[in-house]
Amino acid sequence: MADLGLWARKSVGHILKEANEEGEHTLKRTLGATSLVALGIGAIIGAGLFSITGLAAAHNAGPAVTISFIIAAVGCAFAGLCYAEFASVIPVAGSAYTYSFATMGEFMAWIIGWDLVLEYAVGAATVAISWSMYLSKFLGNIGLSLPHELTSCPADGGIINMPGVFIVVAMSLLLIRGTHESARVNALIVLLKVAVVLVFIGLGWSFIRPENHIPFIPENTGNFGEFGWSGIIRAAGIIFFAYIGFDAVSTAAQEAKNPKRDMPIGILVSLVICTILYILFAYVMTGVANYKDFVGKDGIAPVAVAIDFMGVAGLDGKIIPSFPWLNNTIILAILAGYSSVILVMLLGQSRVFYSMSHDGLLPKVFSEVHPKLQTPWKSNLLFMLFVGLFAGFVPGGIVGEMTSIGTLFAFALVCAGVIIMRKKMPDIPRGFRTPLVPLVPILGVITCLAMMVGLPLDTWLRLIVWMGIGIVIYFSYGAKHSKIRNVG
Ligand code: ALA
Repeated sequence: MADLGLWARKSVGHILKEANEEGEHTLKRTLGATSLVALGIGAIIGAGLFSITGLAAAHNAGPAVTISFIIAAVGCAFAGLCYAEFASVIPVAGSAYTYSFATMGEFMAWIIGWDLVLEYAVGAATVAISWSMYLSKFLGNIGLSLPHELTSCPADGGIINMPGVFIVVAMSLLLIRGTHESARVNALIVLLKVAVVLVFIGLGWSFIRPENHIPFIPENTGNFGEFGWSGIIRAAGIIFFAYIGFDAVSTAAQEAKNPKRDMPIGILVSLVICTILYILFAYVMTGVANYKDFVGKDGIAPVAVAIDFMGVAGLDGKIIPSFPWLNNTIILAILAGYSSVILVMLLGQSRVFYSMSHDGLLPKVFSEVHPKLQTPWKSNLLFMLFVGLFAGFVPGGIVGEMTSIGTLFAFALVCAGVIIMRKKMPDIPRGFRTPLVPLVPILGVITCLAMMVGLPLDTWLRLIVWMGIGIVIYFSYGAKHSKIRNVG
């Protein structure tokens, strides 16, 4: 590793050459800038906004959850700017895995690729579990309750979370049909999802009661993370989950028509749109209902709670909801919206393993593309099984925190990678340049690490065990089958 620069240039050359190979066994380039932005929004708006916001407001930040959204957005913006430069230099499927390959060598690339399973596969399971909760709520509203045993994992007193498994299977089968078809379905769902957020903001704005925003930052209870500024910071770490997904755009680089131009657009525009929507959403949500009204609902359906407060007070002082029909309609849209998050996460996962397998670090089965459908169908099926098991049998809280720690780790490495790439490959053509290097990447690393430090010890232990398994697989398989080691 004496001349990492030479090694990196060789790797980038190798990566791009491989990506440009045409043929029936490569991925099809079908996605334009709009599809990529839609892909980003499709992956970003989901359980984080529609579920976790309520929890964070109720237990950590109160109305100031709006400030938490701004803080988390700043952290994501640093990482997003770094992702955008990488994606414009190395527009190849594989996201952070490919970037670390080119800048930090094969071993670090393996580490990050293995880590990304936590973000994409385990993240998909997290959203699937939340999907199942909203489905149960919807069915309950129309008088069709599902048995608890079939909608909860064993740790929550059930047998299996069947709806969670169902949505994972459905989205995997859709992905196997083809990226283009998936992108079209995704675009429709994104429209619906953004419409829900806009309707909520638009209708809710006139029902904001200023007294609900006072005090905007509730006083700290004496415990770190329970209101006050420490609560705002902890809430930022919690609702960080809501931003995960913009990076999934970069995993589809090999299917982008003009990746050098459109990748940065896809990443940054989707991030900006979501940030604006989130801040407005949180402001309206905590203005329409008092943050204490979200306590006890487990934060599962804060949107439904807020809609019940959109109305006028009757003679007895109770609010008569003005839009009782809106509740179920919005839950249906949220269910559809969640499915697009799961879809993009699963897409990202299969593309990361596609690249790792292409480089010889994983068995060929992960990069075998169906000759007609042109999708890595065997990989999709294997992940359907893996993610389905998590969704069916593991509690949502555990998978959620595993997703966060894995993603933060990936973001920190991508930020560090930009500094290395600037040093080692100063002249390589860039479609987009991260501003103020090294300040922005350094701030990105610091922000991500700070959020990681805030996560509980058992989450750290799970990360360490997962990484340990990865390292064993690397030395027993990946290092022996690596293709790049054989490039002359
Ligand atoms: N950002 C995605 C969500 O909120 C993962 O569901």
